[in-house]
Amino acid sequence: MSGHIPVMQAEVLATLAPHANGTYLDATFGGGGYAEAVLAAAPCTLWAIDRDPDAIARGAALAARYPGRLHLIEGRFGDMVTLLGAAGVGALDGVMFDLGVSSFQLDTDARGFSFRRSGPLDMRMGRSGPTAADLVNTLSEAALADVLYRLGEERRSRRIARAIIAAREVAPIETTGQLADIVRSVVPKDGSGIDPATRSFQALRLEVNDELGEITRGLAQAAELLGPGGRLVVVSFHSLEDRLVKQFMVTASGRAPSPSRHDPGGLRRTAAPRFRLISARALRPGEAEIARNPRARSARLRALERLEMHA
Ligand SMILES: C[S@@+](CC[C@H](N)C(=O)[O-])C[C@H]1O[C@@H](n2cnc3c(N)ncnc32)[C@H](O)[C@@H]1O
Repeated sequence: MSGHIPVMQAEVLATLAPHANGTYLDATFGGGGYAEAVLAAAPCTLWAIDRDPDAIARGAALAARYPGRLHLIEGRFGDMVTLLGAAGVGALDGVMFDLGVSSFQLDTDARGFSFRRSGPLDMRMGRSGPTAADLVNTLSEAALADVLYRLGEERRSRRIARAIIAAREVAPIETTGQLADIVRSVVPKDGSGIDPATRSFQALRLEVNDELGEITRGLAQAAELLGPGGRLVVVSFHSLEDRLVKQFMVTASGRAPSPSRHDPGGLRRTAAPRFRLISARALRPGEAEIARNPRARSARLRALERLEMHA
């Protein structure tokens, strides 16, 4: 099992700009790469959430290296107001999100995230709720096709759903290898080098973990927790995530996509903004980082700053 290489860590740190005595939240602790960078950059306090108990357990070593400064909480970031409230935390000076799964999760066969390896068809980041196997063995054909289409942007969703139903009538689908083979049997390779099972695995993972619902709840709560001058930094990895992040930030900064035909694609002001966009466009990783870490290829960083009162 390999470690997790943090993506756009330098850009995240520069944008969050942690300062002495500040209080920050890492909403997706993972392998603790971002957390360690923040702890090393300024004598601040860092709260860190992850829904994966393995990530929280691994974090104990980092907490021991920064006594009294890193506080780990197992839970979902969509519940951060409750989780931090229970710990007595009020306003935050910054929140960072690094969405999706960690390499620890992807590379552990038993977690069942990867179509490159065979493991139980699980895909849960946490330990509760239905697994991917529960979904593929119980959802109706129409519901499966809908998940694959909506969350995987899979054009062959109906054909795949039909193949899954046919296969499970013979025997339950229990492993990642079985599911990947079913998808590959009906989706031809397209010459891009991307495995035909990629989109279906993404769709099931998003559904199993309600990832888009978590992002919507997590961003709204992070915005609620930020004090004046506080910053929200989000790194996303695919278009469905990035679309939610962009919409949220554009709206929070008092702008909305223009309906005007005189300004197509433009932005217009809505209510008085409480936030400003730190940069109008998403930041992308540099070529050197992509060469070093192919997982960075699709990353996009977006960030907001909470304005002073009545700004
Ligand atoms: C890409 S990794 C983060 C890596 C981290 N920035 C680092 O430098 O090591 C994402 C982590 O977020 C966690 N995660 C994803 N969705 C979550 C949610 N809704 N609530 C809490 N943790 C979540 C995953 O379990 C995973 O460990």
